[in-house]
Amino acid sequence: MNTSAEPEPGGPPAVELTGITKTFPGVVANSDVNLTVRAGEVHALCGENGAGKSTLMKILYGMQAPDSGTVRVRGEEVAFRTPAEAIAAGIGMVHQHFMLADNLTVLENIVLGAESSHGIGARARRRVLELAERAGFDVRLDVLVERLGVADRQRVEILKVLYRGARIIILDEPTAVLVPQEVEELFTTLRTMREQGFTFLFISHKLDEVRSIADTVTVLRRGTTVGTVAASEVTSRELAEMMVGTALPVPETGPSAVTDRVVLSVTELSAVEAGRPVLEDVDLSVRSGEVVGIAGVEGNGQTELVEAVMGMRPIASGRIALGERDITALGTFARREAGIGYVPEDRHRQGLLLDESLWQNRILGHQTRRPVARGRWLDRQGAKDDTRRIVEQFDVRTPGIDVDAAALSGGNQQKLIVGRELAGDPQLLIAAHPTRGVDVGAQVGIWEHLRSARAEGLAVLLISADLDELIGLSDTIRVMFRGRLVATADPRTVTPEQLGAAMTGTQEAV
Ligand SMILES: Nc1ncnc2c1ncn2[C@@H]1O[C@H](COP(=O)(O)OP(=O)(O)O)[C@@H](O)[C@H]1O
Ligand SMILES: [Mg+2]
Repeated sequence: MNTSAEPEPGGPPAVELTGITKTFPGVVANSDVNLTVRAGEVHALCGENGAGKSTLMKILYGMQAPDSGTVRVRGEEVAFRTPAEAIAAGIGMVHQHFMLADNLTVLENIVLGAESSHGIGARARRRVLELAERAGFDVRLDVLVERLGVADRQRVEILKVLYRGARIIILDEPTAVLVPQEVEELFTTLRTMREQGFTFLFISHKLDEVRSIADTVTVLRRGTTVGTVAASEVTSRELAEMMVGTALPVPETGPSAVTDRVVLSVTELSAVEAGRPVLEDVDLSVRSGEVVGIAGVEGNGQTELVEAVMGMRPIASGRIALGERDITALGTFARREAGIGYVPEDRHRQGLLLDESLWQNRILGHQTRRPVARGRWLDRQGAKDDTRRIVEQFDVRTPGIDVDAAALSGGNQQKLIVGRELAGDPQLLIAAHPTRGVDVGAQVGIWEHLRSARAEGLAVLLISADLDELIGLSDTIRVMFRGRLVATADPRTVTPEQLGAAMTGTQEAV
């Protein structure tokens, strides 16, 4: 078997799109887009939601006809009228939303449609197993697809395009549905297959992923090509700047709004887990109008600190007060009611009910308060109206408030959470990695909302692994190391390098 369809160096590009324009009523989805993909590379296509990535790929895949422009595959001009024609030319596409038949087996899903035979012969089965091996998949061919999880379904989709002979494979936001471990597995597959000469078009707006898997990156913005760069020569920030089209705001703190009124005071807080101290003698205060940022290498007690302040973790000793009120003995819900908003670190596990509508998610954690409740009764209308307000004010991109939270992109989910947690005027907001993994537009939006809430007197405890974010948003930075607050830094003067040194315990004070 010839597995080494090695692209000839200097041969024609696998794909060359030139001057592609595509309009929909009222929208220019692609405007004079150019894209050149070398054979045997992983080429990432990046851009914010609505930038035109899927449309461009659907044009390459024969699902949509461009208004103008040319498509070349391996140097030859083509004009696919259907996906079947693209498949015949060796192009496959795995869509963002999988298109499998639940009530058929894995093997049937892969083979059916490609073969007109009745029943599936031993030859087809062998071929699928062979392809699975090349991709590094461990598949069970006779399981019904309905019993598979998302990552396995994706593998079936990939096998389906391989079975049809694809050598150029488009993956439309394949990691959006995967957990980190699964993302790594997918990347292993891509790397293996790249070595075998396959070419990938990989759509994503997660910049760290793009930098880890892609050879080349093309950025689209509002339907136009911003540029193409080598992935090894570009930083995430530079890519992000290409995506949004402006120098990225390293967020600016703006004039101080810090007042004398202490909102959160944590005194001599210690906590122990499995006999080991996870928090030791933590003293911390956050004033009205102040953002206190906690810097630290992950796993040094930041999560535990948040959990302790939220009443989600028992403490060994210490005192936590909100304003004048000692809340040390209160449960989580009572602390929220006392005026703490909480943007959790894991928006899927703690922030949202993914299978519930946006407006039901608005109620989550707030079910005793106006405007989502009146006395002891839920106020559905109030919840819906307020959800509409959040969608509007926080620019949550959604078809409506009745869709499930799962339907939103990560950035829009996060904007919904921030909107909910800022509703009802909390005194204190605990924001744990509030912009992690969200697209750049959402990140900037969330920063702006935090900043304006601070200007209105909100106290914010910010935990972040993004040093630019910490420096840009905080009034004061505290450094956490091995469960202790070991240093205090002034964000106006500290450099990321100095912070990094303090975070690893190599520098005592900043
Ligand atoms: N079939 C369609 N009909 C009308 N508008 C569409 C259609 N497909 C995409 N669009 C619009 O074209 C723009 C680009 O969309 P898309 O290519 O899906 O972007 P991306 O994949 O980068 O998020 C968006 O404004 C989108 O609403
Ligand atoms: Mg898309």
